[in-house]
Amino acid sequence: MKPPLKIALAGMGTVGTGTLTLLSAQAELLSQRCGRPLHVTAVSARDRNRDRGVDLKPYRWFDDAVEMAAMADADVVVELIGGSDGPAKALTEAAIRAGRHVVTANKAMIALHGRELAAAAEEAGLTLAYEAAVAGAVPVIRAIREGLAANRISRLHGILNGTCNYILTTMRETRRDFADVLAEAQRLGYAEADPSFDIDGIDTAHKLAILASLAFGTRIDFGDAFVDGIRRISADDIAFANELGYRIKLLGTAQASNGGLQLRVHPAMVPMNAPIASVEGVLNAVECESDFAGTTMLEGRGAGAGPTASAVVGDLIDIAHGRQTPVYGVPVARLARLPIIPMEHHIGPYYVRLMVYDKPGVFADVAAILRDHEISMESVIQRSRSATEAVPVVLTTHETRESAMVGALAAIGELPSIAETPHMIRIEQFEAARQ
Ligand SMILES: NC(=O)c1ccc[n+]([C@@H]2O[C@H](COP(=O)([O-])OP(=O)(O)OC[C@H]3O[C@@H](n4cnc5c(N)ncnc54)[C@H](OP(=O)(O)O)[C@@H]3O)[C@@H](O)[C@H]2O)c1
Repeated sequence: MKPPLKIALAGMGTVGTGTLTLLSAQAELLSQRCGRPLHVTAVSARDRNRDRGVDLKPYRWFDDAVEMAAMADADVVVELIGGSDGPAKALTEAAIRAGRHVVTANKAMIALHGRELAAAAEEAGLTLAYEAAVAGAVPVIRAIREGLAANRISRLHGILNGTCNYILTTMRETRRDFADVLAEAQRLGYAEADPSFDIDGIDTAHKLAILASLAFGTRIDFGDAFVDGIRRISADDIAFANELGYRIKLLGTAQASNGGLQLRVHPAMVPMNAPIASVEGVLNAVECESDFAGTTMLEGRGAGAGPTASAVVGDLIDIAHGRQTPVYGVPVARLARLPIIPMEHHIGPYYVRLMVYDKPGVFADVAAILRDHEISMESVIQRSRSATEAVPVVLTTHETRESAMVGALAAIGELPSIAETPHMIRIEQFEAARQ
């Protein structure tokens, strides 16, 4: 048997302790599969005295994770602290400088600094692995970078944030409003005390940037993506979507078109019969459309101690075997820079919810504005009437350009009979994209 793979683990929170637990529970199996044991030699976190439910006595403790990355007796450093900069980035750089491979679950760091870190790792002949950074247990990095490497990918989209998917699913199942379900998700530990990273779409955009780089072999800057979150989705929107045959999902989409790339994160209405519509609760899924393989969908647990540890240890197994693939599938220097197509150029059907005071002539005004912006309506739904209060009126449109929709809604919002800023949700057309 070969000598053990020696591992230093930085961060002993949900994923760090989960990784230790998995490595210990599966020690024999892993040793058999790798032909060598996987040995943790050193660990680091902030508070040495915190009870973490795992025995840390067998490992050398470091108060300073960056020092550990440089000094520990280790072949590989596992970064499970989090945050795009700070100690996570410093220890990754220190590990590479010291000639150690790095495994991380940190999507923010890879999305913002991935190219720089990958270039350093490549130059040193080291692995920088990050399967756990996108969709937890779902092996989507490997699927895109290796499994589908024979294809040109034309589009990928995914449900990449379990917190948002849980909130949207629970809103639909219980007919409750966003704020109420978010508060419950926070109580249950599914949402952070400060949930903005998740619900404003930033976490999804980090993961989309990583997947798009891999899928399209291109440099992506985090600011390239259009990002909108789920705060404005109401119980009414969910009910109307249902009535119209859709589910609302927070999707991250990367799509090649006219020699450029569209990158967008926003709530989307997906047809109920699309496979991704039935991905519910905290689950994640990614669907890829490619020229020879056709449509491929992966679904599974995107977070939590066990699923994330599974991905971290999968990367450790590759390192134990000496399997090495360029971080982005191609060396960093060979990444292309595709033009980014601005969101104003997006074309598709739209759902619009207006809160309307039911006065004579209001529909004529709305219809005139839509006509002036060359937007053609497909359907109108009004379920309730009130002489005193605003009531929801929902329109769906045929295919139209985003810039026209934005202009029309700004004008509609100015009408005296409109009570709130109009709310639009983009309707996804997977079939059209597949043709
Ligand atoms: N949780 C998930 O389900 C999940 C899923 C996919 C990816 N991830 C990613 O995995 C990473 C870790 O997430 P997590 O949920 O495990 O976080 P967490 O529970 O908050 O744990 C973070 C750990 O980092 C330690 N830490 C913080 N600052 C440190 C420093 N300066 N030096 C050494 N240790 C430090 C903390 O120490 P103390 O315990 O002493 O405070 C804690 O043990 C993040 O990048 C996250 O995005 C998480």
